[in-house]
Amino acid sequence: MFVKPLRKAVLPVAGLGTRVLPATKSIPKEMLPVVDRPAVQYVVDEAIEAGIEHIIFVTGRAKSAIEDYFDRAFELETILRGKGKSDVLEALNTILPEPGTMSFVRQQAPLGLGHAIWCARDIIGDEPFAVLLPDVLIEGQTGCLAQMAKVYAEHGGNIIAVDEVPNTDVHKYGVIDPGTKTGRLSEMRGMVEKPAAQDAPSNLKITGRYILQPEILELLENQETGAGGEIQLTDAMARLMQNQPFHAYEYEGMDFDCGDRLGYLRAIAHFALGHKELAVGARAIFENALAHKS
Ligand code: G1P
Repeated sequence: MFVKPLRKAVLPVAGLGTRVLPATKSIPKEMLPVVDRPAVQYVVDEAIEAGIEHIIFVTGRAKSAIEDYFDRAFELETILRGKGKSDVLEALNTILPEPGTMSFVRQQAPLGLGHAIWCARDIIGDEPFAVLLPDVLIEGQTGCLAQMAKVYAEHGGNIIAVDEVPNTDVHKYGVIDPGTKTGRLSEMRGMVEKPAAQDAPSNLKITGRYILQPEILELLENQETGAGGEIQLTDAMARLMQNQPFHAYEYEGMDFDCGDRLGYLRAIAHFALGHKELAVGARAIFENALAHKS
């Protein structure tokens, strides 16, 4: 079977971050630090690990800090060079993408995730592409998208990452109706965005990592609004599923919703305790804080 290579990824970063205000009043939520890097860096690293060659950010007003972050900071670099801080300079250089490997397109109105992805259509072109929701950080031995890319290379078609949530939480997510399961991979019978607990077809939520075929873009073009009055990617995927192979993949790892205050805190705790240089210090800090506050 010929499988078109996966080269591009879309990161929708236009959201306002209302659930973590006031922290996000004047900085994009994607730039909130998780230990020692902005959240978006983790997601970009995950995409690169999966072999992605071009990243398309769908941004909005007040998000220019993201573009600046992935650009050279000439003044800062000159000062660091003058002070002989070559280690810091080198660390900054590792962030820099190869010239021309990142694109930025604006979503001019908050019409939903489906609309955000559609805004990237000209840059995606006629190729399969990944979507990574940057609110969601995923920790795992192998990155979630790299796991999916491996499955994609074998099966082609469309693949979305899923994981279990308690029944009480299904209304916050897209939820799938799984069919036959082989290992971690399930065929799909359906999916629904933000169902009430009693209507949810399962407790497998759509995690926020997708590999999609470009035909989804034509469906998004005329997708009617769905849950929350927004153009939902889930609704267009449910239509695409009628004509194309579609699988759900239960990835290995743990996800953190950084668009939520406690989810963000959980991410910081986990990534600090897994950090090669800071883990020991972080553990001592957490134990100390618990001893004093409990
Ligand atoms: C989006 C998707 C939803 C998915 C969720 C994961 O919802 O629409 O299907 O389960 O991300 O975080 P949002 O969080 O933007 O409401």
